Amino acid sequence: MMNKMKEGVDVLKHVCPVCKDEVSENLGQHIKKVHGVNEFSKAVLKAKEKGMRDPEIGVLFNITFRELEKIITEVYGINISVLKKPKKIKGWVPIDFKEATTTVWSFKQRGNWATHDGRYRGNWSPYIPRNVILKYSQPGEVVLDYFVGGGTTAVEAKLLGRKCIARDINPAAIGLTKENLKFACYQKYPIYEPEVSVGDATDLSDIANNSIDLICAHPPYAGIINYSSKVEGDLSKLDIDEFLRRMAKVAKRSYDVLKPGGKCAILIGDTRKKKHVIPIGFQTINVFLNAGFKLKELVIKRQHNCKTTGFWYAKSIKYNFLLLAHEYLPIFEKPKSSVVSSLKERAGDYKMVVPALEKPLLKRKLDELETTTVWILPEKDFEERLNKNVIDRYSERKGYSIISFICYSNNETKFIEETKNRGKRLLFIKSAFLANNPSQSKVEFYLKKIKEIINWDLPKITKGGFIVIQTQDVRIDGYVEPLAKRFVDSICPDSLWLKEIVVITQEGQNSYTDTTEKRLKITHQYLLVYEKKDRSEYV
Ligand SMILES: C[S@@+](CC[C@H](N)C(=O)[O-])C[C@H]1O[C@@H](n2cnc3c(N)ncnc32)[C@H](O)[C@@H]1O
Repeated sequence: MMNKMKEGVDVLKHVCPVCKDEVSENLGQHIKKVHGVNEFSKAVLKAKEKGMRDPEIGVLFNITFRELEKIITEVYGINISVLKKPKKIKGWVPIDFKEATTTVWSFKQRGNWATHDGRYRGNWSPYIPRNVILKYSQPGEVVLDYFVGGGTTAVEAKLLGRKCIARDINPAAIGLTKENLKFACYQKYPIYEPEVSVGDATDLSDIANNSIDLICAHPPYAGIINYSSKVEGDLSKLDIDEFLRRMAKVAKRSYDVLKPGGKCAILIGDTRKKKHVIPIGFQTINVFLNAGFKLKELVIKRQHNCKTTGFWYAKSIKYNFLLLAHEYLPIFEKPKSSVVSSLKERAGDYKMVVPALEKPLLKRKLDELETTTVWILPEKDFEERLNKNVIDRYSERKGYSIISFICYSNNETKFIEETKNRGKRLLFIKSAFLANNPSQSKVEFYLKKIKEIINWDLPKITKGGFIVIQTQDVRIDGYVEPLAKRFVDSICPDSLWLKEIVVITQEGQNSYTDTTEKRLKITHQYLLVYEKKDRSEYV
């Protein structure tokens, strides 16, 4: 299709696959102009079927990745990355599999045992449902995935001897799931063939109440990937507000069909709009909490397909934003009985100390700093490295204040302030102190105090300046109190944008292997980065 030509100078010429003429203009433009859009789509698909890589197709036909996905989705009915099934089964179990024991899950290899492959665009790594199914269900119990896509959860349920109800709104996805379930293998568990059918997750009326042991599902995130071109009810076509409204229905019906004590694991990520983060993850957690669920765990799933080179990397440096590199996997529980709040203590016994400290400012260029939303820092100088990253990235050498909360004992909390150049560009509130001794009253005090500090300090921050809050999830009475989410829910003065949600963790901490502990060890914290708006941007 492609020839190099001509006297002296190398000019790229292409042979048009339709008329066989040699064309020196862009091949895509030529086919569209001379032969029409249908021939253009056919030519693109043919290149894809031959195994040409997406970036090469992009250059050859002058189309974006989105346009390519659209052509494939329209013709095949689903969004698939490889048109011919390349699969030869290499094994039935993951090699060296260890169950996750901490709240940060990271699978560098996505997993290609059994019939799993990356063909269905946006499918999740089989390590996720495998971990969830092993932790929260027993052989013979019923697992429901109502967003089953290419069938990853159903395949894992079958391999692990669980019964499975697998649904998806898209008939073509259900076809792919059925294809992926066509296997028989020797295994230590009894085999239950999953019940696979087309269905809408917002309507589970044919599933009996209190009949499901575990829900394990991965919704489309409000238009980030399009999963179909014409399927009515496909949530991937909705804007965020409508997506959340539909997810509220899903949550309500999930609550009804789960047995009391049953778990519901939902993988969900954030998105970015105009360089600011839209916290779809925390908003979706709210939707499930509002339906009556309790939060049993909040896992951070690292993403490894996030490129630190190329177009987005260059943009992220230019506009000072981080590449999204994590998703949330909240594990909800339908409580066995209604849980009584333990709010007995009064939030009175706290002191505050405000000495001013000086600290050297380390100057580094932005491109030497962490570039994604997951920062993994060495244990040895964790706090120091963290401070440097925050100060360098967000103070822009125009001054900063750090306020650190410290908890000395059960009922004594202090905060210390250190300031460099009062004409503040950055207010950094370091407040991971609740980990040792959390209680509901301390949480409420802490949230209130930090909001007061923000309200007090906000006028002193220059426009375009930043407020950064370091915080972490804590466990109270067996459930997770997601403090970062609580802040995001409650800090929304007209004058602040939520710019980033960063996850921070220590190197090596996530290889923690004590599997006797049923609960996951919380090994991550968060940085919530707010940017002060210009007056013209106030709502
Ligand atoms: C992120 S994908 C799931 C991928 C799946 N975990 C896998 O590994 O293949 C989301 C799926 O939700 C489906 N979907 C969208 N709206 C739906 C709805 N209302 N009911 C059921 N499925 C829906 C899409 O067709 C898509 O297959």
